[in-house]
Order: sequence, then structure tokens, then C-alpha cells
Amino acid sequence: MNEEPKYILAIDQGTTSTRAIVFDHAGQIVATGQREHEQIFPRAGWVEHDPLEIWKNTRAVVGDALVEAEINRHQLAAVGITNQRETAVVWDRTTGKPVYNAIVWQDTRTQRICDELAGDEGADRYKERVGLPLATYFSGPKVAWILDNVEGAREKAEKGDLLFGNTDAWLVWNMTGGVKGGIHVTDVTNASRTMLMNIDTLDWNADIAADMGIPLSMLPEIRSSSEVYGVGRKKGLLIDTPIAGILGDQQAATFGQACFEVGQAKNTYGTGNFMLINTGEEAVRSENGLLTTVAYKIGDNKPVYALEGSVAVTGSLVQWVRDNLGLIDDAPQIEELATQVDDNGGCFIVPAFSGLFAPYWKSDARGAIVGMTRYITKNHIARAALESTAFQSREVLDAMNADSGVELTELKVDGGMVKNETLMQFQADLLGVPVVRPQVIETTALGAAYAAGIAVGYWDGEQDVIDNWAEDKRWEPSMDSETRERYMRVWKKAVERTFDWYD
Ligand code: G3P
Repeated sequence: MNEEPKYILAIDQGTTSTRAIVFDHAGQIVATGQREHEQIFPRAGWVEHDPLEIWKNTRAVVGDALVEAEINRHQLAAVGITNQRETAVVWDRTTGKPVYNAIVWQDTRTQRICDELAGDEGADRYKERVGLPLATYFSGPKVAWILDNVEGAREKAEKGDLLFGNTDAWLVWNMTGGVKGGIHVTDVTNASRTMLMNIDTLDWNADIAADMGIPLSMLPEIRSSSEVYGVGRKKGLLIDTPIAGILGDQQAATFGQACFEVGQAKNTYGTGNFMLINTGEEAVRSENGLLTTVAYKIGDNKPVYALEGSVAVTGSLVQWVRDNLGLIDDAPQIEELATQVDDNGGCFIVPAFSGLFAPYWKSDARGAIVGMTRYITKNHIARAALESTAFQSREVLDAMNADSGVELTELKVDGGMVKNETLMQFQADLLGVPVVRPQVIETTALGAAYAAGIAVGYWDGEQDVIDNWAEDKRWEPSMDSETRERYMRVWKKAVERTFDWYD
């Protein structure tokens, strides 16, 4: 006799690593598997991943998590997937092989394609239809680049042999059988990051796909975020296990943080920072540099929307300080350096490595370290690196307050960097509102687990998510408003130094 399923498995395919986490009914972590994949930088501004390495790591971490939990697929009620969004994979449905590396969301090679598409109408040409400005961030132009630059790709695509997806679709296709009958689907949240989906009707926009030269046959079927899409393939650890939830990682974190009411918001501190505020059933268009995105859609229910402020570089700046400057051996050490000085000594770092995302959307900005004097030490640099995360988030919060006309009263936070107490206190100081950390900070994987569990009746619905959410710690602002606004003035001056770097 097989045991009654007791757990949900979430696969979190992120920018730097892939994780599998087993959750129990209380939303607590039972076991975790995690593997990093290579970050490939072929040229300045280019960032790639190997999709086959990601698929291999996915199988490995699922195995690791099941072994650690001492369970097998019979004890899993369902699997949920969450993923780095926008990153574009194009593969051949007949061989199962990618035709090129995945082009990562941080990659800026599509600048020219975006400029050409913008033409005289400007970067907001498609904004009313898809909720997004034309920018190198999104998937559509990345697919166009692959079709234009990989030999033979366009012919194959026109024959119907090529498939496109963000890494969710790539994994689900492989998990459900690959060349032997894999299903080609994505969810509304991932589709809302391609620049190809009508944000109001949730279907592909044939005109925009044609402008970008992308055949519709390449695009996955758009489904809700919580339903049974298919089951695990015959050869694999998850045979016949329902795959029942897909959410882009930032939307998953919003779900896992129980932001179900209009006006509730979360900020995730990962490779980049992503703040989302729930706007309910209304797809609000931003006047202040935010993105209109789908937050989630449960089965046949109406979609729920969000406004998002995306910041490209936060945690990855700490990695850069570690790997490229060699100032620290591991990421947590940055706090040790930063706390040896009382302030940044006048030094500011604007990490515009992928241009600037929200609220500026300037693809041709490049990073700057400013305010340098003989006084500055590596401790000040470490502090400035940490503080840049908080400054960028404050600018996004200002945009959200301006768009919604209501001041946010507190901010839920999650992601790896929220363990950093110095950063969290500085964040509360700069925002002027409390910053709240939940007990389970793996809210991304948790959100995907909830979406899958709700689809199969393991959880009843959003109320279970709300009931399981618990506060761990809260930081109250303690900086006076004059100091706060002086910091922001200098920060904005530093940001302006990064604009229009290329002629
Ligand atoms: O939009 C990019 C985002 O989905 C990546 O998130 O956590 O992998 O940095 P993360």
C-alpha cells in the first residue's frame, strides 16, 4: 500500500542555482537540494546559461531533496515550479536540444533590436497592450536575436520545429517526457514577462510576435498558475506525480507572502530586487516606471494583477565584490566589513551592470562608484555596495506610492539578503516604514508549493497561506527624515552619473 501523500515538492529554478524543497502541510521546510549552475559571460553585457546543465541540476536536486526527506514520489501530492523569469530558451522539439544557450534576463545584447522596434513611437510602443516598456530585460527580443543570429534557426522555427519558453516551460516539457510527448505550456505570470502576451486578455499578441519575427508555433500554451498541467514522465523520479503549479519567481514570492489584498506588497532580495504590489483584478498601467504584470491566476478564477519595480543588480553586486574584486571570501562577510565603519564615508555605488531597470529603464546606463576620496577604505566600499540595494528599493517604493496614490505602511521582505541585519535596518531607515521578515524566507519556493497544493486539494485555498504565514522579525525606522532625504539626494546625483554611457 502506498502512503497518503503528505508533502509538496517545489522546484525553484533561479538565476544562480536550482533548488528543490519539500514542504509539509504547515508550509514548513522538510528538506532541500540545491546546485549552482555556470554563469556564462561571453562578452560585456552578455549573460547566458546552459539549459541542459539546468535540466541536469533539476533532476539532481529533486533526488537530493527526496533522499534528505527520506520519501519518494508516493508521498508527494504535487509538484510546483517557480523560475527566473524572462530568460529565454529556444530548443528543437525533434531532438530536445537547445539551439543556443539560454539568454538570461540580465543580458543587454538586444538593445539594438529594442531601439529598432521602438522606432519613432518610442519605448512605450507596446505598453498599453502588454504592460511593459521595450527593454532588453524581456524575452521576446531575446528570441528574435536567436532567430536572427543562430544559423538555420529561422528556417527550423518556420517549419514548426522550434519551441520557446522561459525556464519553467523548458523544465515542464522535459519533466513530462521531452521528445516523447512533453507538454509545452507556461503560466500567465511567465507569459506576462515576454512582451508577447496581451495583459488584459491573457493570450498571445500575433501583431507583436510578427513585429519581432517570432512564429506563433514556437510559443507555449498559456495556462493558469494553479492547475494540473501533466504528470511526471515514465523515466524519472516523479513518475505520474501531478505538476500542478507554475509561477514566475517574484509572483511566487508574492503568493508565498500572502499578499492577496489590494495594496499588499513584498520585496525580494535575490540576484536583483523585485517589489510587487497587488492591484487586484485591475491591470494598472504605471506612470512612474513600474511594470504591469500578472500576479497569479488560480484555475478558472479571474487573474490578479500587480505593479512591479524590478531592480537588476542587488545580491549579484555582493557576488561581484566577492568574485571580481576579491574583497570578501563569501557573501555574508560583506556585513562584517560594512559594520566596521559608521557610514559610507561619502561613497556610493550605482550597479547599473545591465543598464538601469525600474524606475529609469535606461539600457545604456553603466555602473559607477562615486564620491571617492583618499579616506575611502574597502569597508566603505562594502557598505556602499550593501546600501545600493536599499537605495534602489526606496526609489521603487516612491514609484509605487506615486502610482497608487496611497502610502505603503509596511513592507514584507524575503530572499537571501534579508538575513543581513545591517541592510534591513538601513532599508527601514531609508523607507521610513517598518520592514517585516516572515519565519519562512524561502517564500518563492513556498508560493509555488501553495499553487500546486491548492490545485490538487492538498490546501483549500489562499486562507491556508494566510494562516501559515508568521512574522519573524520587524525593523522600525530610526533615521530622522532630514538625514534620509539628504542620502536620497546624493544617491540620485550618483544615479545620474551613470546615464547615457554610450554615444
Ligand atoms: O526577473 C528576473 C527574476 O525573476 C530573477 O529572480 O531571484 O533568480 O534573481 P532571481
